[in-house]
Amino acid sequence: MKTTGKRSRTQLLNTPRDSARSLQLTHDVRYAGDFLESRFWRWLGEYLRTVLSGRDRFREYDLSDPQAGVYVMPNVASVALASDWGTGTISAYRVRDEILRLKPDITMHLGDVYYVGNQEEFDDYFLGDDDWPRGSLEPAGDITALPTYALNGNHEMYSGGHAYFRSIREHFGQEASFFCVENEYWRIVALDSGYSSKLIPGLELLPWWVRLQAQNIQWLQRNVLSSTDTRPILLLSHHQWFSAFESEHGKLGRDLGTDPRFLLWFWGHEHRLAGYGAYQAHPKGPKIRGRCIGHGGMPIEDIHMPVKRERNLVFYDRRAAGSVDGTQVGYCGFALLDFDREALVISYVEETGKVLLREKWIRTEDGARGEVVDYDPELLTLERPIDQLVA
Ligand SMILES: [Fe+2]
Repeated sequence: MKTTGKRSRTQLLNTPRDSARSLQLTHDVRYAGDFLESRFWRWLGEYLRTVLSGRDRFREYDLSDPQAGVYVMPNVASVALASDWGTGTISAYRVRDEILRLKPDITMHLGDVYYVGNQEEFDDYFLGDDDWPRGSLEPAGDITALPTYALNGNHEMYSGGHAYFRSIREHFGQEASFFCVENEYWRIVALDSGYSSKLIPGLELLPWWVRLQAQNIQWLQRNVLSSTDTRPILLLSHHQWFSAFESEHGKLGRDLGTDPRFLLWFWGHEHRLAGYGAYQAHPKGPKIRGRCIGHGGMPIEDIHMPVKRERNLVFYDRRAAGSVDGTQVGYCGFALLDFDREALVISYVEETGKVLLREKWIRTEDGARGEVVDYDPELLTLERPIDQLVA
């Protein structure tokens, strides 16, 4: 476990979702009194510099190569997913320790290194040997998958995304912020919903502004969806397409189309654990089962938030693990995907190592069939019968 550089949960709680105020936190400008000190000028200078220098270049693939951005993993492999992990909190490092205990072949971070994902924050809270857990896979022969991947989030883009794009290339060998990792039975497809979060100040606060870049969509159509096989697709993105709790990013799903191979969609951004039954938020988007795992390192906030019933929410975790500044916060955690040829078992694990729920999917001729293997009704709040999760 990391012993230096930890942040307290108080520092992270209620982190704002806009670039100006996130950058304030990076420069430790928290209170009105701080504005009278020199930190204010440092923050203002950096903010103006970020706004004026704009975003880093969006990394693209050569689309004349139908394999560009497509990596092959073994038919038997484990993949750990966590989101909003780059916080530096004790809970984040507990999640890290639990991930490493399970020795996944591949790890994927679904985005957000706080507060603005600049190089210093990447170095301090993400890239060190004792930070984000690396996968153990060693690519060889037909196996081209990397052991570690990181998706782009809104907070990375608040500093323009420069440190993010540099870090994924230099540290993980990852060419772009979107990719497909597949075997003979399953496909994991990661999208970049974060890049649109920084362009004009304040625009990132408009939910409908979050979108995929044109090259990301073209690549998806040409290099992933154009194949005629029936392998189920597990989508990953930082932002949620829909939510029973918070704002929704409607454009994300509409850009994907209604391809029936879309099975599950893992996302973060919302700091909670929640699972949805099949839901089609827009007729132009997929009917898909959402899995919110944005509780990788941020304290789960608003644990008693009211629920929008019509989103087909099946379960969520609203237990209080403790209180920070008078606000109740929940547990952090992650998901582990265990692929064994036709079978896929997904475990939702909390920072204490406890498994809250396990779902199993079996690849069939025309898709996949699911069941909930076990779950703890004492720990999870059910909004619907648990079998709805996989229906
Ligand atoms: Fe986010």
